[in-house]
Amino acid sequence: MDQIVERIKQTGVIPVIKLSRPQRDAAPLAETLCSGGIAAAEVTFRAAGAAEAIRIMRAARPEMLVGAGTVLNCGQVDEAVKAGAQFIVTPGLDPELVSYCQRLGVAVFPGCSTPTDYQTAYHLGLSVLKFFPAEQSGGLAKIKALSAPFPMFQIMPTGGISLNNLREYLSCPVVCACGGSYMVAPELVEHGRWDDIRELCRQSAHIVEEVRHG
Ligand code: 3PG
Repeated sequence: MDQIVERIKQTGVIPVIKLSRPQRDAAPLAETLCSGGIAAAEVTFRAAGAAEAIRIMRAARPEMLVGAGTVLNCGQVDEAVKAGAQFIVTPGLDPELVSYCQRLGVAVFPGCSTPTDYQTAYHLGLSVLKFFPAEQSGGLAKIKALSAPFPMFQIMPTGGISLNNLREYLSCPVVCACGGSYMVAPELVEHGRWDDIRELCRQSAHIVEEVRHG
């Protein structure tokens, strides 16, 4: 768990990926993300074939950190872990699902956006939360307000993150990384615009580097 969180922190930005054709796109996308300086992905179970995409990405680039997103039930956790997922992201806070992941020993980052969510997450012994949907839930102002009573959490905002606000989010001390789909927008993946995706990754990695090391 700690090692996964450390790698997420180092990467700084986690691309949120929905692949409709994993057989065709997963391997070149893994290659592109890594060469763009972002060796990580959250592959969402919103698209059929997510487990296959995870399997292909891990095989294509073993050094890559690949997790499963939009996980809604224990069956999907099993499927994701079997495919090689190294972490699980859920859109909301489901205590049963979190406990299931904890029993399996797989890192889990549930979506939280209210004091009640945070308090429940505290009782579950969690230390890293996805703040979702970030912009729509109050953005940085809310993340900062919630960190006053809950300083024990590191936060991964997702939802509405782009190159325009990435720096601002990453500059907040409680933010360990941001999730976003802006660098892997469906039209870019659909048309195999790998150079564009690589460039967006490079720009993102550059912002991470600047925020972390000045
Ligand atoms: C998610 O899938 O977790 C979010 O919807 C990603 O949000 P974004 O598309 O606004 O980056």
